[in-house]
This record gives sequence, C-alpha cells and structure tokens, in this order.
Amino acid sequence: MGASGNIPQSRILGTGRYLPEKVLTNFDLEKLVDTSNDWIVERTGIRERHMAADHEASSDLASEAARRALKAAGIDAREIDLIIVSTVTPDMPLPATAMFVQQNIGARPNCPGFDLSAACAGFIYGLSLADSMVKSGGARYVLLIGVELLTRVMNWKDRTTCVLFGDGAGAVVVGPSEGDGRGILSTHLYADGSLASALCIPGGGSRMPNTAQTIEQGKHLVHMVGKDVFKFAVKALASASATAIEHNGLRPEDIHRVVPHQANIRIIEGVSKRCGIPMERFFINIDRIGNTSSASIPIALDEALEAGVIARGNNIVFCALGGGIAWGSALVRW
Ligand code: ACO
Repeated sequence: MGASGNIPQSRILGTGRYLPEKVLTNFDLEKLVDTSNDWIVERTGIRERHMAADHEASSDLASEAARRALKAAGIDAREIDLIIVSTVTPDMPLPATAMFVQQNIGARPNCPGFDLSAACAGFIYGLSLADSMVKSGGARYVLLIGVELLTRVMNWKDRTTCVLFGDGAGAVVVGPSEGDGRGILSTHLYADGSLASALCIPGGGSRMPNTAQTIEQGKHLVHMVGKDVFKFAVKALASASATAIEHNGLRPEDIHRVVPHQANIRIIEGVSKRCGIPMERFFINIDRIGNTSSASIPIALDEALEAGVIARGNNIVFCALGGGIAWGSALVRW
C-alpha cells in the first residue's frame, strides 16, 4: 500500500510511552532457564526488559501511554475521533482493549475504537490506517497505541523465546499536516501467511479452545521457530525500507534516522548493511526494553524524541516484522 503522492496530509502530533516499573534482567532469567547473560547479549543485544505487575492489564499501560501522547500533542481526549489499539495481548478476547482505553482516558462516549492484530508490524499497519483516515476526512485526530504484555504469554520453561520479550506501551496522536511538507510520506504493508506457524500462539482460539490438556501442553503460549523468522526478517525489512526510500525519491544517505522494530540487534545490523544506512543512524533501545512487539516502535520513537536525536524536517524510516508473518515500513518527514 503506497502513498498517493509525496505531499503528506497527516502527521504525528505527539508521542508517549509507558513502561512497567519492574525490570527483569538476564541474570534474573539465568535463575529460571538454562541460559546466560553472555548468550542473550551476544545473540540478541538484550540485557533487560520490563514486566507488568500482576494487577496491570494491557489497557492500563495503553491508557498511560495515550495520556502522555495526548499531552505532548496538546490534544484533549474528547477531540479524538478514533482509537486504534494494536496488540496480540488484549485485556480479554472480547471486547476490544480500545473500549477500556476509551473509558480510562475520558474520550467521547461514542468515540469509535478497535483492536488491530498484526503482531510486531501492528504499529506500521495502524499508522497506515490512521494516515488514511485523516487523509479521507474520516477522522481529524486518531489515537494509535501499540501495547503488549508479552510476559503473560511466555513459556518460562522455553529459553528460546522467554529471553526475548518484554512489556510496554507506546502511543501517538495522528492529525492533519500543516501543509509544510512534514508528515507521513508513505506506508507499505506486506504479509505472508504461509509462514504463520513459525510464530504463533496455537491455543486459546477457535482452532484449539483452551482445555486443561492444551494448557498443560503450553499451547496458550508463544511458539517460535526463531531461525526461520530471523532469515526472513533481515531480507523483508531491508526490502521494505528500501521501497519506502525509493518511493519518495530519496537515497539511503537522505535518511537521518531509522526507528526499527527492536527484535534482535543482529537483525537490525543486517538491515543496516543491506540498506547502506550506517548503524549510528538506527535508534536502538533493545538492550533495555527487549522485544515489545507492536509497542516497540512507538516506545523507541518517544525515547528518540526525548533524547533529541530527531530534528524538525528529518527523514525517518520505521520498519517492523513479526507474527503472520506481517511486515511493513513507513517514511515520515518530522
Ligand atoms: N540461552 C542459551 N542458549 C540458547 C538460548 C538461550 N536463551 N536459546 C537458544 N539457545 C541455544 C539453542 O538451543 C541452540 O543450541 P544447539 O546448537 O545446541 O541446538 C543454540 O543456542 C543456537 O540456537 P539458534 O536458534 O540457532 O540461535 P540464534 O542465533 O538463531 O538465535 C533467536 C535465536 C535469538 C531466537 C533468533 O533466531 C531470533 O532473534 N529470531 C527472530 C525473532 C524475531 O524477530 N521474531 C519476530 C518478532 S516477534 C513477534 O512478532 C511477536
């Protein structure tokens, strides 16, 4: 899905993040599974991740990130026309987590909202939708949140997955551009369902409803063939990023900052090499945050802005890939 042209009609007006207080280090994980801090750092780049408290649900994290994004944007919650929550760890299967967010933040009582399921690519999918809604006049302000409580769906006996993921929420407010060339220049979305089983939660849906037996077997938890996803990820993310750059008539050297999905530092290094954009231009927080799926890019973007490494007029590439397999890229002129 490409942009209709290079004149942006929507832009990100504000960002916010919320990370639960508790931090789980690699050394904590050494006590749970047969792993080591050295292995995790060397193979993934992760040193620690956040973990939600027992009383916290996805909507709690999402609402706090949303409040912060609204404040940064200078928009009142009642001005929001649509709430999109990207998550694979909703509060509950029904209703949408967006409903709880609507109530928590004091949005208009009839403000529409829904959840979006595209795993780690969810933020890019949501950004594409928000951009389209603003462009079409269907909404003036869209609140887009990526939130995950992945520690709730981890198999704490499986060292190949439980060391990778963390909890957190990131939010953005998307609204009309000011006609000055700044804003969302393009989004490109992709998926390949033939690889669905490489990364999935097989149980708990209509295919395999939860029973005592499926829970005993851990079917309600994340299953991943990491190697398959890894190989696919480097190629797909590099290709999607290159498409975003070319689509806008730019060259790799025109890109000031890449804010990638933070799944594995080696994936990011592979993308950097293939795209010809040096690692110094990639914003990295995987060491402190781990993989927070659809929350990953909005958390990183908020941190990058706070760190002052994104300036007005900068060309920023977002790219993400995850379960589906679904992936995508976006190019934003800040
Ligand atoms: N600690 C110690 N050893 C480990 C661990 C661990 N935590 N995990 C695996 N190993 C072992 C393996 O058992 C294997 O041992 P063996 O050689 O004796 O069989 C060895 O380390 C090498 O395992 P690999 O799987 O080859 O390790 P690899 O370098 O591929 O790293 C990883 C695994 C980190 C999972 C990597 O494949 C990866 O990052 N994959 C992509 C993940 C991803 O991007 N997911 C998509 C986003 S997530 C989403 O959408 C929700």
